[in-house]
Formats: sequence, C-alpha cells, structure tokens
Amino acid sequence: MCRALYVLCLLFLLVACGSDDSSYTDIEDENRVLDFPQPDFFPSPTYDLEANPPTEKGFELGKKLFYDGRLSSTGVISCGFCHIQEFSFTHHTHIVSHGVNGALGTRNAQPLMNLAYMEDFSWDGSAAHLDAFPIIPITTDVEMNESVGNVIEKLKADEDYQSLFAAAFENENIDADNMFKALSQFLIMMVSADTKYDKVMQGNAVFSEEEASGKAVFEAKCASCHSGILFTDQSYRNNGLPINPEYNDIGRERVTGESDDRYKFKVPTLRNIALTYPYMHDGRFQTLSEVLNHYDSGMDHTENLDPIFINDNEIGIPLSDTEKSQLLAFLQSLTDDNFILDQRFSEF
Ligand code: HEC
Ligand code: HEC
Repeated sequence: MCRALYVLCLLFLLVACGSDDSSYTDIEDENRVLDFPQPDFFPSPTYDLEANPPTEKGFELGKKLFYDGRLSSTGVISCGFCHIQEFSFTHHTHIVSHGVNGALGTRNAQPLMNLAYMEDFSWDGSAAHLDAFPIIPITTDVEMNESVGNVIEKLKADEDYQSLFAAAFENENIDADNMFKALSQFLIMMVSADTKYDKVMQGNAVFSEEEASGKAVFEAKCASCHSGILFTDQSYRNNGLPINPEYNDIGRERVTGESDDRYKFKVPTLRNIALTYPYMHDGRFQTLSEVLNHYDSGMDHTENLDPIFINDNEIGIPLSDTEKSQLLAFLQSLTDDNFILDQRFSEF
C-alpha cells in the first residue's frame, strides 16, 4: 500500500513538475525495464516488446501469478501445476493435462520457452496473441475452471497483489489487461538457446560422430518442417498419426473451419525434446524411439496427410536402425540444462 502511495506521489510530482527529468529517473529506479535476452543467432521476436516491455516488477508479478493456484476455481491448479520447469514447463508424464479435481483434458501440455518468437499459440493456433492465451486455461472447465472476473476479485483482495500491480503498471489497475501483460512479461523472458547444438553452432563445442551423423539425417528427413533455429516452421501439418477415436481431435480445422485443415497440428519445436515426453498433441508416445518408429512405419494415410510423407505406394520416412540411433543422439543435443535450472523462473 505504501508503495502504491509512493508511486502516486511520484506521478503527482511528475504532473506538477512538468519536464523535470529527475522525477523520471525516480520512476525508472522504482521499476527497471529488463534486458530481453535476445540470442544473436535467433530471429527478431514476434512479440511486441515496446507495447509491453518486461520490467522487474512486471516479471515478478507475472511469476507470482504463474505459480498461484488462486487463478483456478479450486485454489490449487496454477499454471505451474501443468507447466513444470524441470520438464521445460510441460506436465511431466501426464499424457493429457489434468486440471481441477483431476479433470482430464484432451491435449498434452506444450513446453513454455521461446514464446516471444511464436506467431500463434496452442496445438491448433487458437490464440493469435500471447496476452490473450491465459483466458483459455483459466476459463476451460477441465483446466482451471474459473472466470477472469473472479480471479480479479481475488487478486484485488490481496495486499501483496495490490502493491505489486501498483509497482508494475503506471495506471496501477488490478484488471485483466494488466494481469495478462504481467503473465506475458514472465513468459517471454523464458528464452532457451543454450544447448550443445547452440554451442556447436557458435563454435564453442563439437559434436560426437554419432551426433554429427544424426544432424545430417535430421537435415535430410526432418528439417523441412522442424526447420531453422527454433526447430519449427510454425506451419500446421498432418504427420500421419492414426486417429485417436477417444478424442477425434480435428486440430487446426477447429480454428479455421476448413476441411483442408482437418487433423493438422502445429509443427512443434524440438528444443528440449528429451525432457518433454510424452509426445504429440495427445501424448500418445512415451519415448523418442516410439516417435521415430511412427515416422518410419506407423503412419496412417488419413485426410490431409502431408505430401512429404507420400512416395509411390509407401507412406512415412524410412529410417534404418543406425539412422534412428543417430537421430536420437542428435535430439539429445537439443537439451538446455541451464534453462531448466534457471532460478529466475522457478517457483521457489
Ligand atoms: C490443466 C493443465 C494446464 C494448466 C493449469 C495451464 N495449462 Fe497451459 N497448456 C496446457 C495444455 C494442455 C496446452 C496445449 C493446449 C492446446 O493445444 O489446446 C497448453 C498450452 C499453453 C501455451 C501455448 C504454448 C505454445 O507453444 O503455443 C501457453 C502459452 C500456456 N499453455 C500458458 C499457460 C498459462 C499462462 C497458464 C496459467 C494461466 C496455463 N498455461 C495453465 C495445460 C495447462
Ligand atoms: C511434414 C512435416 C513434418 C516432418 C517432415 C517431420 N515432422 Fe515431426 N512433427 C510434425 C507435426 C505436425 C508434429 C505434431 C503432430 C501432432 O501432435 O499431431 C510433429 C511432432 C514431432 C515430435 C513430437 C514433439 C512433441 O512436442 O510432442 C517429434 C519428436 C518429431 N515430430 C520429430 C520428428 C523427426 C525426428 C522427424 C524426421 C524423422 C520429423 N519429426 C519429421 C511435422 C513433421
């Protein structure tokens, strides 16, 4: 509360003193803009950092919100409940996510990292802006099953949140707009770019022979979709998974209404892939070996199967046992241990 008053006074001074530069400095001291950790070998962020620059207090607020069960109706399901840092912010071992009272969702929780570079969000791209994304988990009945209005009421009644919102945002409002902005400030700072692969690419490490061969197989057989430094071209494709009758998830068609998009899902990044099992939108594969067996010999010719997988009478990407072990070695080199140990993002 004191801090809120302090900021109010500063604002008053600002207005009163007009162009007095020293008051600006005071406000900056109060809430520093954070340096966005842009790796020089990454593309420019798609997230508008000028519209919502991550600040020290905004990040702190976003982190508190991310780990706060009060964003759910039962008070126990936080964002961090399904997005666990150790597993690159996925819901370790859960095939599909578990929300309030153990309710089952239909999809596997996605990793949270490098979100500042994504064009849209979720397996089918149903959210076009990161700031709009949290409405989905908060209000979905099998996830947090809460209303945004209720969440705001709970936050308004809490003194810690009163001072954090006041410190983080000039208008000091405890409202949905600021809550979503703070969550985004926390999420976009999660940049993961420090894997063995990155070190090799920067000339600071060397691949084993197995890894190097795996990289060559990957570039020949996988990189058309899992492309570039983010390991995704961010397109929607059908990679031939047999339809799971339990969910019959139509994927991208849910968003566009186009039958051409039936069974297409976002090409996922493969960064930290060794940590984010189980795999695919419905978590059907427990191991990367199962994933490789799927590409080699497990595909179904369902509607809109990507043409890349169709050759004469065969479907899939033929992989020998040697190529499979080389690919596995390469995929392991995409793990960023510093990211999952980074205290800035951890709950405690
Ligand atoms: C009950 C488990 C659960 C909870 C709680 C949850 N999520 Fe998720 N999250 C998921 C699942 C499952 C997906 C994939 C959704 C889909 O494709 O429909 C996902 C996807 C996402 C994505 C998209 C990532 C991408 O690459 O497109 C973001 C961002 C995200 N969650 C952030 C959050 C935030 C912020 C919260 C808290 C407000 C939250 N999640 C709470 C399970 C959960
Ligand atoms: C035509 C594009 C395309 C090609 C080529 C391709 N993939 Fe995929 N990959 C996808 C899509 C789309 C998904 C998500 C499918 C889903 O869940 O419905 C995916 C999912 C995955 C996953 C699971 C990721 C996760 O987070 O659950 C792994 C691992 C993977 N691919 C590895 C590979 C490897 C290795 C190759 C080469 C042998 C390859 N992919 C070739 C499009 C492709």
